[in-house]
Amino acid sequence: MSEPFRIGLLGHGTVGGAFETLLEQRAGHVAAITGLLPEISGILTRSRGDFDEILEHSDLVVELIGGLEPAREYVLRAMRAGRHVVTANKQLLSHHGEELWAAAREHGVQLRFEASVAGVVPVIRVLQESLAGAHVDRIHGIVNGTTNYILSEMARTGCSYGDALADAQRLGYAEADPTDDVNGKDAAAKMAILARLAFDTPVHIDQVTYEGIEQITADDMEYADEFGLGLKLIGTAERIDGRLAVRVHPAFLYSGHPLASVHGPFNAITVESEAITEITMSGPGAGGPQTASAVLGDVISAMIPPASTPETTQALQIVDDVESAFYLHMEVADHPGVLAQVAQILGEHGASIKSVVQTGLGERARLAMVMHPLLESQFFAAVDRIASLDFLRSPPRAIRVIEEEFV
Ligand SMILES: NC(=O)c1ccc[n+]([C@@H]2O[C@H](COP(=O)([O-])OP(=O)(O)OC[C@H]3O[C@@H](n4cnc5c(N)ncnc54)[C@H](OP(=O)(O)O)[C@@H]3O)[C@@H](O)[C@H]2O)c1
Repeated sequence: MSEPFRIGLLGHGTVGGAFETLLEQRAGHVAAITGLLPEISGILTRSRGDFDEILEHSDLVVELIGGLEPAREYVLRAMRAGRHVVTANKQLLSHHGEELWAAAREHGVQLRFEASVAGVVPVIRVLQESLAGAHVDRIHGIVNGTTNYILSEMARTGCSYGDALADAQRLGYAEADPTDDVNGKDAAAKMAILARLAFDTPVHIDQVTYEGIEQITADDMEYADEFGLGLKLIGTAERIDGRLAVRVHPAFLYSGHPLASVHGPFNAITVESEAITEITMSGPGAGGPQTASAVLGDVISAMIPPASTPETTQALQIVDDVESAFYLHMEVADHPGVLAQVAQILGEHGASIKSVVQTGLGERARLAMVMHPLLESQFFAAVDRIASLDFLRSPPRAIRVIEEEFV
């Protein structure tokens, strides 16, 4: 008979409920590999259970409440009492990660959080363990399944942003209130966590610049198609001249990029490093059973010591003005010299045009172009000037283009 291993479960919603079910199914298997039989020793919700009692009768605490408080307080109290903690809470880690990791180190316990980024895709473990020896240069991620589903549908069917969002809500890929998904904030929290691990640098969510997909139109998708580009909401964390930039924004990708073929509600992360070239991991980014599987993986890892909690060994300076290639879309009056004026302003700000498409006549004239990479501040200064030209029929739209292809 295996000794029991007692798990206190905080939260019994989509993921917490799925975790309890999965544990019942897999307990025998876990006992076979760890020598300990896991069991739920108590469950806390808003209407059930008492935290102190659950803590007293647990060897490990699983936090699946979400949000900042009381999750932070419970996680800290559990670690101070010498309990390992497993959490799926990206908000908590992107706001209070340093405090929590310090507490884990101080009290000699593990704080594991695989499910906090990209659901069941094992990117945390890969960065913390498999790639611990690699000097990571850059991470690109599709880390929000809701927005990836919406953009995939817009590209596939030519429908509007609003119709694709309504479809995502109907299918359960988007919450009733999708704000933090579509405005990029959810992805920003996940990129803060990935950047922290890949670059050994504390990154707070407030240091991640983000833009969402609310402004994307069916028109952008159509032009992108002409340039051979696909649109994704991309999180990027990259080393630039010894500093670190972390951001989330919509970006066009050429078809050779590993993330270009990730469609629907899936997540994927590409890690680039000179030694390893490029590694891409992809899979379901959310869902109760999927996320519960990642949580159980963490519980098993905590049952079989040792594993490490990350310590800050570097502190790279965070930068937010970086070089990007851009797509620029303008609805213009069909006068002679329009393209020349736009090109002149771009040239004065150091922007050079890689390719250009001009379509339509009269009231329907449009200019779409792709620029070579330049500093974002320079590009946006040029766009500000272009926006004030009187032949523009609506504000210009700019979207970043990721140029790298891996073959
Ligand atoms: N859902 C996903 O697909 C997914 C994917 C990846 C990560 N995650 C993360 O997993 C965590 C849980 O998400 P979820 O979707 O399972 O959430 P959920 O369905 O809303 O469940 C939350 C649970 O926490 C309980 N709770 C809320 N506030 C509480 C409080 N103050 N004290 C005690 N219990 C409280 C709720 O209790 P009541 O039952 O009483 O309301 C409920 O049981 C979050 O951090 C989320 O970001 C979720």
